[in-house]
Amino acid sequence: MSQSSKEKIFIGSFIHSNECGELIVIDRGMIHVKNGKISNIIINPNSNDEKNKNVIVLNNTQFLIPGFVDCHIHAVQLPNLGVGYDKELLEWLEHYTFPLEKKYIDEKFAEQVFNTVVKQTIKSGTTTACYFAALYPKASVILGQAVINKGQRALIGKISMNITRSDNYYETTEESIININKFIEDLTKLNSPLIKPVITPRFALSCDMTLMKKLGKLAKEKDLHVQTHVSENLDEIEAVKNMFPEYPSYTAVYDGAGLLTCKTVLAHGIYLSDDEIALLNERGTAIVHCPSSNTCLKSGLCDVQRLKSKSIKIGLGTDVSGGQSCSILDAIRSALQVSTHLSLIKENYRALNYKDVFHMATLGGAAALAMDNQIGNFEVGKEFDALVVDIDISDGLLNNLQSSTLEERLQKFIYSGDDRNIVEVYVSGCKVK
Ligand code: GUN
Ligand code: ZN
Repeated sequence: MSQSSKEKIFIGSFIHSNECGELIVIDRGMIHVKNGKISNIIINPNSNDEKNKNVIVLNNTQFLIPGFVDCHIHAVQLPNLGVGYDKELLEWLEHYTFPLEKKYIDEKFAEQVFNTVVKQTIKSGTTTACYFAALYPKASVILGQAVINKGQRALIGKISMNITRSDNYYETTEESIININKFIEDLTKLNSPLIKPVITPRFALSCDMTLMKKLGKLAKEKDLHVQTHVSENLDEIEAVKNMFPEYPSYTAVYDGAGLLTCKTVLAHGIYLSDDEIALLNERGTAIVHCPSSNTCLKSGLCDVQRLKSKSIKIGLGTDVSGGQSCSILDAIRSALQVSTHLSLIKENYRALNYKDVFHMATLGGAAALAMDNQIGNFEVGKEFDALVVDIDISDGLLNNLQSSTLEERLQKFIYSGDDRNIVEVYVSGCKVK
């Protein structure tokens, strides 16, 4: 078997999810990657196949999983990780977040932070990220360039906002439309298949209906993704009601602006009513669960099982820096803990298990971003975005389960592993860690 530089063949164990959220466990398989995409999968390959010098053979403490998908992360907020949790959302934004975000007018500062964000997230296994970038178009394009340089896959959103309570951190409606168009044009000029722009009204309290309608129209005309926040905090929900009294709900405000599509992701959704969930379902709009942010900012406990039972697509987000970590593994554990808390206070509540959250972090996240035809698991025709996990590294976890199954090894990684156990990261077949 010959292999060109555009081809890679992996032999070893791999584990991924299907659309139903079930684990698919392959103890010994071969994945053939051509031009970044999976071109063939063979279960139990012939041992002669291992002899080819171009084949990458995983050792028996290693296994492949799909790359993690972070459906909601604020690249600009990385410097604030771990601070500001004495305030809840609205005060936190004014006190800690907006003052930091204003600094991205400085392009050097933007470049420095964004290089670090992309490096850190790749190190933690995020192969696809849906980023909130900056208010400023130039800084937002710099994030796009950092993503391309490091080989990550990403949706990049220049924040749109024409209302602010803190001084001098907003655009006029006219500026906002000029800036978003300029951003889309400049990002598109970078000409990379790895990145796409995403329309990003910050949230209903930062945008008036005129701006939101213009953004909804633009998303429709250009067939773009949309991201924003919904129903995160009780004071926020009250303020949205007061600002848009003519709409029956927070979700209905976005729908009125034409922002809810099957390519829209809404972060949080903790306090959604049944009517709001039905509306999201009708539009095919996804919710991004951000459990560490929801606990750090004391926003609430999101009942993911309720959303799942009503067929809402759910992805997972770190929501840096509402969340205290840019690692999806940490978000996975927070999701497990939030769900366990809910099971302790609600009768007959089934807590999420590691298989559920693994699915949310991979194929579920890909589906939330309407990218599951491209990424999320190992299927012929999909991009090869993958992590090589090793649970027996000298300075990390030890594989002390003598006869451990592959499922047990995945469980160990999910509950107790960290970025040291992610020994290689691939995006579109290229090794990026
Ligand atoms: N709502 C509006 N802006 C933000 C933000 O930056 N972080 C979070 N968690 N919620 C928001
Ligand atoms: Zn957020």
